[in-house]
Amino acid sequence: MAHTIQKAPGKIILFGEHAVVYGQPAIAVPIPQRFATVTIEPIIRGDHPTHIIAPDIDLDQHLSDLPDNHPFVLICKLVKDHGNLHHLPAMNIQISSTLPVASGLGSGAAVSVALARALCTFLGVSHSNADISGMAYEVEKIHHGNPSGIDNTVIAFQKGILFQKQHPIQWLSLEHELDFLIVNSGEKKSTKIMVDMVAEQLQNSPERYQSIIEQIGSLTLQAKSDLESADIPELGKAMHQNHLLLQQLGVSTPTLDKLVEIAMKNGAAGAKLSGAGGGGNMLILPNTEKIYSVQNALLHAGFTNIIQVSIH
Ligand code: PMV
Repeated sequence: MAHTIQKAPGKIILFGEHAVVYGQPAIAVPIPQRFATVTIEPIIRGDHPTHIIAPDIDLDQHLSDLPDNHPFVLICKLVKDHGNLHHLPAMNIQISSTLPVASGLGSGAAVSVALARALCTFLGVSHSNADISGMAYEVEKIHHGNPSGIDNTVIAFQKGILFQKQHPIQWLSLEHELDFLIVNSGEKKSTKIMVDMVAEQLQNSPERYQSIIEQIGSLTLQAKSDLESADIPELGKAMHQNHLLLQQLGVSTPTLDKLVEIAMKNGAAGAKLSGAGGGGNMLILPNTEKIYSVQNALLHAGFTNIIQVSIH
């Protein structure tokens, strides 16, 4: 068993968050600029047990000291079951990530995917992207309660997707590369709290909220063709419309709204919150010639955590 290293990218949702939990389509792409890395080395001498180090979350422990429902323990168990292994050999596992946690960039799913893939590779267990996605989905359930499955899917397959529960995955195919900006609002959020909040609202006022969810679904389908034909004005309009619908769902915040306003005033074609909302990151589609003016306005307003991504 040789030393193994695996990386998995972050992700960003372009359209359809929340509605996707209720069976509507959503669009997401991987962000290769930010990723989780898992390194596994065999423990050759002595009888040391498997040790996990994840400095980003201050974890430095034996695997056997972690609870059964810990995400890392669950992934180890899923890989062991998938490979029909009787036991796992002793290993040193190191986990790190350049993805901010609790900010809608898929840090949890990226770690799960990288860990599952590293373990399978290290142990010689054959695996497909769908197998890895399925394992990461089990961990998403611990984090979120009722995940749609979009995060683990886009990260495991590392391709832009239109995702809809109970439907085959549709791969995105863009005519031209598109540049987006991802801006961190500085507010941490909990996906579970936001997903639970929408569920409660849906239960209290089903007609009103079901209609918003369906409008997000139709908008997402329309936006897929705008995205594929790289129609920046139409795509921007759809993003802004999606933000307004997410506002109506109650998942935006004053800071996210302010970021959208700054972007739109300074030459963005569109802007929206991305992911669960309640904070985290937002997404901007700048008009190509205005990218620096949007960036400068954000920096000037104190939002310095900006990632530029090209989607193709
Ligand atoms: O974890 P986040 O912030 O990327 O949000 C996930 C997207 C939701 O639609 C809100 C939840 C889900 O499981 O799809």
